[in-house]
Amino acid sequence: MPSRPTVLVTRKLPDAVTERLLATYEARTNAEDRLYSAADLLAKAAGADALLPCPTDKLTAEVIDGLPESVRIISTFSVGHEHIDLGQARRRGIVVTNTPDVLTDATADIALLLILGAARRAHEGEVMVRQASWGAWTPTGMLGIHVTGKRLGILGMGRIGQAVAQRARSFNMTIHYSNRRRLPAELEHGANYHASADEMLPNCDFLSINTPATPETYHFLDARRIALLPDGAVVVNTARGTVVDDAALIAALKSGKLAAAGLDVFEGEPNINPAYRPLTNTFLLPHLGSATHETRNAMGFKCLDNLDVFFAGREPPNRIA
Ligand code: 8YV
Repeated sequence: MPSRPTVLVTRKLPDAVTERLLATYEARTNAEDRLYSAADLLAKAAGADALLPCPTDKLTAEVIDGLPESVRIISTFSVGHEHIDLGQARRRGIVVTNTPDVLTDATADIALLLILGAARRAHEGEVMVRQASWGAWTPTGMLGIHVTGKRLGILGMGRIGQAVAQRARSFNMTIHYSNRRRLPAELEHGANYHASADEMLPNCDFLSINTPATPETYHFLDARRIALLPDGAVVVNTARGTVVDDAALIAALKSGKLAAAGLDVFEGEPNINPAYRPLTNTFLLPHLGSATHETRNAMGFKCLDNLDVFFAGREPPNRIA
């Protein structure tokens, strides 16, 4: 056991997190916040005891295989872990931890921003104000979709889905959800459970995607499922872009099948499908889900808590592999 374990940190972390990191560990930091290639990462990992990566680092089976024997834990700065081949980490005997809970509220807040922004045409309105194309007020100008009292379907009722539901209830929305398992009544708060997404979709004036990226959810919202939504529905996504088939969503936004979409995550981000950009019925954000000072500090501290417990010889609290 090294007295001060060496941690390879792949991205620039918030100052308070870096300060605490440096107090306990030999840290290889990335002050320029440069994205490392797989080769860079492996070269920098030589002799390290731990990695502290982000979802921008693709820890594929090959990369994990290439890690030196010294690396015993990967503490990812994210709740999502689709960027890490967990099976390969297990085979190599490398422990993996993530950062659940602390980003739930910030991400649910962004889901509500997307619902409101998409429904109330916030993007178009912003452009009008900034470009001085705001004409005289008219009773029929810039009409959007009423949010209060509508039906919200939540795909994936984990921590973030439940936090979205909690916020939406203050808008008097009726909550529907589909999830592998039904929640216990005390967590359901009267929400309507659907054993399958297909059964839920016809009940969604708004659909919020809150399910993790897995092989099963890849392009889950495809043309067939979009067709099950009511005409004029609004789709928002704060989970992962890969859950949506972009071509199908774009076609539905163009045809008017869907009224609008609010998206914080995209397949291939930041290189999003360019067909989204000219669509005025979209409200698009650059993966801001967890982007608050408080949340990013808490995520970093959670990474360090997991490392501290692991290097003290105990089971880290947020172990996922
Ligand atoms: C960002 C997230 O990816 O935690 C996740 O899985 O999607 C977000 O929190 C994260 O902030 C980037 O490190």
